[in-house]
Amino acid sequence: MKAKITINTSNIIGDIDPRIYGSFIEHLGRAVYGGIYEPSHESADDMGFRKDVMELVKTLNVPVVRYPGGNFVSNYNWEDGIGDRAKRPRKLELAWNSIETNEIGVDEFQEWVKRAGSELMMAVNLGTRGAEDARNLVEYCNLETDTYYADLRRKNGFEKPFGVKLWCLGNEMDGDWQIGHKTAQEYARLACETAKLMKLTDPTIELVACGSSGPLMPTFGEWERTVLRECYDHVDYVSMHSYYGNPDNDTADFLASSMDMEQFIIDTAKICDEIKEEKKSDKDIMLSFDEWNIWFHSNEQDKKIEHWQVAPPLLEDIYNVEDALVVGCLLITLLRHCDRVKIACLAQLVNVIAPIMTETGGRTWVQTIYYPFLYSSVNGRGKALRTVCECGTYNTKNHSNVPFIESITVDNGSGITLFAVNRSSDESCELELSGFEAYRLVSHTVLTNDDMKLCNSVNEPDAVAPVQQEISGDIILAPRSWNMLKFTLK
Ligand code: AHR
Repeated sequence: MKAKITINTSNIIGDIDPRIYGSFIEHLGRAVYGGIYEPSHESADDMGFRKDVMELVKTLNVPVVRYPGGNFVSNYNWEDGIGDRAKRPRKLELAWNSIETNEIGVDEFQEWVKRAGSELMMAVNLGTRGAEDARNLVEYCNLETDTYYADLRRKNGFEKPFGVKLWCLGNEMDGDWQIGHKTAQEYARLACETAKLMKLTDPTIELVACGSSGPLMPTFGEWERTVLRECYDHVDYVSMHSYYGNPDNDTADFLASSMDMEQFIIDTAKICDEIKEEKKSDKDIMLSFDEWNIWFHSNEQDKKIEHWQVAPPLLEDIYNVEDALVVGCLLITLLRHCDRVKIACLAQLVNVIAPIMTETGGRTWVQTIYYPFLYSSVNGRGKALRTVCECGTYNTKNHSNVPFIESITVDNGSGITLFAVNRSSDESCELELSGFEAYRLVSHTVLTNDDMKLCNSVNEPDAVAPVQQEISGDIILAPRSWNMLKFTLK
C-alpha cells in the first residue's frame, strides 16, 4: 500500500500548548500509596516519595498533573490532608469503596509535583461541598495575605504560596455515579458562583467547568450549553472525558477509536462557539480533555476487590501493543486539534490505568502505552502543521472510512517530526512525502509486534519497546505500527 503525506510549513494548525501532555493522579487504588509515595521503599526520598517512579515521570516530561480526582474529589475534604499528619483522619472513601488515610494531601502533593518538574491542576469538591470550601482552598494555596487560610498554610510549614494556576470546578457532575451528582442547571449555578468566589480570591487562576462525562452520555450537548450559558464569563475551559476499549476483541474497530475522539472534539468546540455567538462574546472557551485513555482490561477483576482496604489494586489495566497504537492515534488527534485543545490529561499516571507501574515494596516497569506518550511529549512540541494524508480506508462495525494511516507533523523549530500509525493488519505502507524537501530524515522509531496482545510485565519489562529502523531510501510503515520520523533542516 502507498500513502502520500503533504505539508506546508507555513500552513499551521496552531501552537501546541505543552499542557496537552498532562496527566492525572487520583487518590484511587495504588496511584498515591504504593505508587508515587511509599516511605518504606528503598528508593524513597526525604518525603517518602519513590524516586524510581519520580524518574520515570520526569522522563515523560508531564507539564501538569490533575489532582486529587476524579470521582474521589466529590467526597473529599481538603482540610483532612493538611497539617500534622498524626492528627489527620482515616476516612471511608465512598467513590472507590476504600479507606483514605490522608497521609498525602495538598501540602505533600504540591511538593511531589514540583520535584517531578510539573505543575498542579487542582480539582475542587462540588459534590458534597461548595463555593466556600473551594475559595478557602484557593486562599490556602495561592495567597500571601495575613488571613486565616494563608496563615494556616504558613503554620503548616509553607511560607511561600503553592501558586496553583489551573483549577477544575468539580468532576463529571452529570454522572449518576458521581457523589453529589447534579442536573445541568444545578451544576451550572453552583459552578458559576464557585468560579466567582475563586476568581475574586485569586483573579490570576484559570478555571475548567465540567462538561459531560463522555460523548455517549444522554446529557452530552445540552449539559455543555446549560453550563456555558450560566458560566461563560467566569470560566476558561470546558472539560472532556473519554475512555476507549476493545471488549469485543475487534482490533480493526478498536484502532479507529480516535475517530470518536475527533468527533467529540469537533462537537464540543461547536457547542462552545454556539454559546459564544449567543452571548456575542469575544472570548473563546478552550477545551481541557482532562481524562483520556484506554480503560476496560481491569473491569472484571475490579468487581472482586474487597471494600474498605487502603490502596487496593484497582483499575490496574495491563496494556498491550494494540493499546499503544490506539494511544498513538489519540495523541495524533489531540495534536490535530491543538488550536482548541489546550490541556489534556492521560488518565492516569501511576498504577491506575497508567503508563507507569510499580510493585508495592518492589520494582517499577513501564507499559506499552508509555512509549507513544513519551515520544510525543518529548518530540511533539512546537507548532502542529496541517498534515494531509492521501491513503486508502476501511470499514468496521462502528466506523466507516477509517484511514489506514493516521498522521500529524510537528514543527519543532530546528526540525520537524512526523507521527504516523499504520492501522492495516497485513499491509506495510510506503510513504510519499511532499513539502519535506528542505528536510533530511534522521531517525525512524517504530513500535510494533506480530502479537498485538503482547504486554510488558514486571518480569519482562522490555517485551514491547520501540526500536530504531534503519534509514534507507524508502519510508515504510510496518502493518499495525506506531512510528515517529524525525527530520532536520538540510
Ligand atoms: O480515571 C478514573 C475515573 O474515571 C475518574 O475518577 C472519573 O472521573 C472517571 O469516571
